[in-house]
Amino acid sequence: MTTQADKTLTMIREVCALGRVELDRPHTPDGDPVPGRALVKGLRAIDQDGEPSDISLSVGLLAPRAPYFDRLVIEALAAGTRQIVNLGAGYDDRALRFRHSGVRFFDLDLPHTTADKARRLEALDTDSAHATLVPVDFATDDVTDVLARAGHDAHQPTLFIAEHLVLFLKPEDVARLMTGISHRAAQGSTLALTAETHPAGLDSALVVTTVDEVMFAGDGPLHTIMTREAWLTLFDQHGWQVENADEATAVDHFELPVADQAVRIQTQFLTATTA
Ligand SMILES: C[S@@+](CC[C@H](N)C(=O)[O-])C[C@H]1O[C@@H](n2cnc3c(N)ncnc32)[C@H](O)[C@@H]1O
Repeated sequence: MTTQADKTLTMIREVCALGRVELDRPHTPDGDPVPGRALVKGLRAIDQDGEPSDISLSVGLLAPRAPYFDRLVIEALAAGTRQIVNLGAGYDDRALRFRHSGVRFFDLDLPHTTADKARRLEALDTDSAHATLVPVDFATDDVTDVLARAGHDAHQPTLFIAEHLVLFLKPEDVARLMTGISHRAAQGSTLALTAETHPAGLDSALVVTTVDEVMFAGDGPLHTIMTREAWLTLFDQHGWQVENADEATAVDHFELPVADQAVRIQTQFLTATTA
């Protein structure tokens, strides 16, 4: 059964996809920047009123976010990393854009999304043999097994990226995902993700339920918003050393009242290496 939360997640996924193609993005010499727009053809990001969403907000959020993750991919390729695992990839076209000899891309997402992306890739006139689309549900599946079955090599360094994913997972599933990734991360691996943060001194569960009530009438897909400190602790507990721990790289996401106090929710970009 498709819930309202599923429909909202679909809308957000498509808003991200449509917003991303509006940006001027880099690509490798072997990469193919052209099919990005074709890959998202026909997506409409239908909102709760049945209308196509306004993607301007997403373009504002993506403008700093997409280049941050693009840069990490470019740097990883330059450093000789040969595996890029894109967690919650949605319709992201980095596998095409950053095609590079000897490099494998693994795009993980929910089964219906990977199936639709596979159909769309097949219809494009571009080589995607180096990209493996991996169906997974991080709420139920063990990413360690899923990656092993997909052909990921746990003995070689990997760049793991999770752009705008963990906000949509429950805290216990975020922790399980971190554990699973850590089991697949050879020395020299990097993990980068967007972490939704609220100011210190607030109860995270209250922040999440308030966001859900105010923005989604109690049936939304957003589940994990924590303090920056809590995110840093989570990385540390899973053996990851955050590079930019002392200085937040972030974009303001939204603001709303929690317990009568105006609270700013930020999307922070965290990059860590194997400790
Ligand atoms: C907001 S979209 C971001 C997509 C892409 N990373 C981007 O920045 O355009 C979040 C993605 O995470 C995926 N996702 C959410 N919950 C998931 C789960 N439990 N298992 C696998 N993927 C999930 C969604 O299907 C969606 O494609």
